[in-house]
Amino acid sequence: MISAILLAAGTGERFGGEKQFVEIQNKPLFSYSLDVLSDFEKIEEILLVIPPNKNLNVFQDKVFKNFSQKVQVVLGGKTRAQSVAKAIEMLNPRTKLVLIHDSARPLLKDSQLNCLIDSIQSYDGATMVRPIYDTVKRINPGQPISLVKREGLYAVETPQVFKSESLKKTMSATKKFDEIFTDETSALERLDMKVLHIPNKDFNLKITTKDDIAIAEQFLQKQLQYSIGLDYHSIEPGEGVRIGGVDISCEIQTKAHSDGDVLLHAIIDALFGALSNKDIGEHFPSNKNNKNIDSKKMLEKALKQFKESYNIYFIDATITLNSPKISQYRGEIITNVAKLLGISKNNVSIKAITRNGLNFIDFKEGWGAEVILTFGK
Ligand code: CTP
Ligand code: MG
Repeated sequence: MISAILLAAGTGERFGGEKQFVEIQNKPLFSYSLDVLSDFEKIEEILLVIPPNKNLNVFQDKVFKNFSQKVQVVLGGKTRAQSVAKAIEMLNPRTKLVLIHDSARPLLKDSQLNCLIDSIQSYDGATMVRPIYDTVKRINPGQPISLVKREGLYAVETPQVFKSESLKKTMSATKKFDEIFTDETSALERLDMKVLHIPNKDFNLKITTKDDIAIAEQFLQKQLQYSIGLDYHSIEPGEGVRIGGVDISCEIQTKAHSDGDVLLHAIIDALFGALSNKDIGEHFPSNKNNKNIDSKKMLEKALKQFKESYNIYFIDATITLNSPKISQYRGEIITNVAKLLGISKNNVSIKAITRNGLNFIDFKEGWGAEVILTFGK
């Protein structure tokens, strides 16, 4: 079993406050790493360590609402080592490997976690490091300036991974030392345990002062992309229409080869559009196989391809239909579309218009939907 400890219990002295809770792009700093750890399937348990002066229950409730069930909140200590020690007490006894990460580093990647887990075998611990390329000097007031040779100099980063037994042993043995260890691999090495240092290919920003926020904003900015989807069908007298997977009884029905769910068709078209992968007609031609096909099935196929590359951030749809009026069904349609797409209801907008009276574009013989999809990596 693999567990993770996410450290977010510091006071942020150099920052001038608890930097881990500062919002960047509408999201608190600590939650960037928490999201990556929660989505990483090999990790079965996450201990989120928060400052000791916080209310554990309030925090735990918030975490349960926003994050996965894997997360447990723990009150930290005055020093980093004490925070780690508090989390270790809560570790599941079955755990064999423990990942430790600073919430101050929001650019955590799956590839780093995989790399650490895959290479720890014959070591007690492993850490990401960054070679130092700058010229380095030691400058202390009143003392001669000395040049530090940069060869072999590395900055130690997180994430780090540890064999659980080695970490427990180290944290309990080094408690008695006067030394302050600013990371756990240094504590391991103090006991002559074997640590692997892996040069990190990625930029692994650490937020230390307020100036770092502007840099973080640039890196964490979502790169938004947009695509469009349209669909129209003619109507005839009948018993109902299907809109966004919701069956609505009324006095018309859609003339279509499929189930005629114009809204889902427009969404599917936008998904294929995002992938620059032709259109719904090419993927689902009007042949025998697709006769009366449920649009949900088509959506599943398009969504599977789409989710390999992108996330949906928002979907805005306009339905053109003279009657029945959409407003009374809007809530149900939004709920269903959000469920089908696997996104929050807050990120789905369904609007409707009629074109009554405008003879040149009157829709009395048909209906349609237009969708704009906002998405990104
Ligand atoms: N940390 C912690 N418990 C502590 C001290 C630090 O969990 N008692 C965590 C911080 O929240 C941070 C990580 O360890 O995510 C790295 O520490 P650092 O960047 O030094 O953060 P702070 O200690 O909060 O900042 P400062 O040293 O400027 O006070
Ligand atoms: Mg600190």
